Amino acid sequence: MKALIAASIKYQDNQLLILDQYLLPHEQVWHECESIREMIHLIQSLQIRGAPAIGIAASILIAMLAERGTSKMELTQAISDCRAARPTAVNLMNCMDAMQQALEQSEFVDALVITAESIFEQDRLMCDAMATFGAQLINDGDNLLTHCNTGALATAGVGTALGVFLHAHQAGKNIHVWVDETRPLLQGGRLTAYELGNWKIDYTLICDNMAASLMAKGKVDKIFVGADRIAANGDFANKVGTYNLAVLANFHNVEFYVVAPVTTLDIDCESGTHIPIEQRASSEVTGVSGSFGSCQWAPKQAKVYNPAFDVTPANLVTGWVLDTGVYYPQDVLNGCLKTL
Ligand code: MRU
Repeated sequence: MKALIAASIKYQDNQLLILDQYLLPHEQVWHECESIREMIHLIQSLQIRGAPAIGIAASILIAMLAERGTSKMELTQAISDCRAARPTAVNLMNCMDAMQQALEQSEFVDALVITAESIFEQDRLMCDAMATFGAQLINDGDNLLTHCNTGALATAGVGTALGVFLHAHQAGKNIHVWVDETRPLLQGGRLTAYELGNWKIDYTLICDNMAASLMAKGKVDKIFVGADRIAANGDFANKVGTYNLAVLANFHNVEFYVVAPVTTLDIDCESGTHIPIEQRASSEVTGVSGSFGSCQWAPKQAKVYNPAFDVTPANLVTGWVLDTGVYYPQDVLNGCLKTL
């Protein structure tokens, strides 16, 4: 397989390295990943995270294992195990389905390598396309708001929603970004702040519960978020807290855009109610952990509800920014997502 280099995934000289996103920004640790067991652990612990990135990393590993002589039977199991690592982001399932199709070819090693390379390359190109379409929606002087992390760390390219900001910034637009810290795992505070800082984009970090008062004061012009799965009717799942923002945006007349590649579409999923939502450990809510150590503040017996994602209904979305263009409510009501 040729060298494949992205912000959080590096494949080179028969070696796959994953940047630990749980330890960023204070520690930059690359883990070598050599087995499916390790990959599943990296995905489930969010050391690699973001809908596109988990599918891309798993695909590269499977192609690498095929090149190392892993049997067809073991590869079938590997694909099925990776597919089940996290339930919400459909990109992972789409990538694993493509790898399974490649595995069914007679020259399956070559087919797996070509498929993994193309998944990587296509994602990079789709990020550029989304960034180009999305940046046209941004005006000079806009105050933007985002949730979770949708940057280069989460994709093979410049990212989804964050890629839009980068493109607008590179086009010379003067923008400022409000960054939701994104409890419980702080992808905003840890990763989005880190990426925007590296890109020299002006940002201000806020706690998630501060967005409402900013909107009430007229300090947010537009919201851009990513997605883990978009249903055929335009409802979509994204990091928990996205739905809160959509409701607030609707109340305050703030434009609300979702940015995702077509690989995040699940047209077999009729509406958001059918999207499986991952439930995670209570310790993520009763405290926090990271490169700084770990701290648990809630009572040990506290009962916890911790869904990793929520579903935003299509009627709260101003526009869907995909790599094929920007779609508006009337297009989506007319079923355009089913034809992409
Ligand atoms: O649990 P995570 O960090 O994997 O959740 C990620 C998100 O919700 C992102 O917004 C989504 O995957 C889009 S990333 C381009």
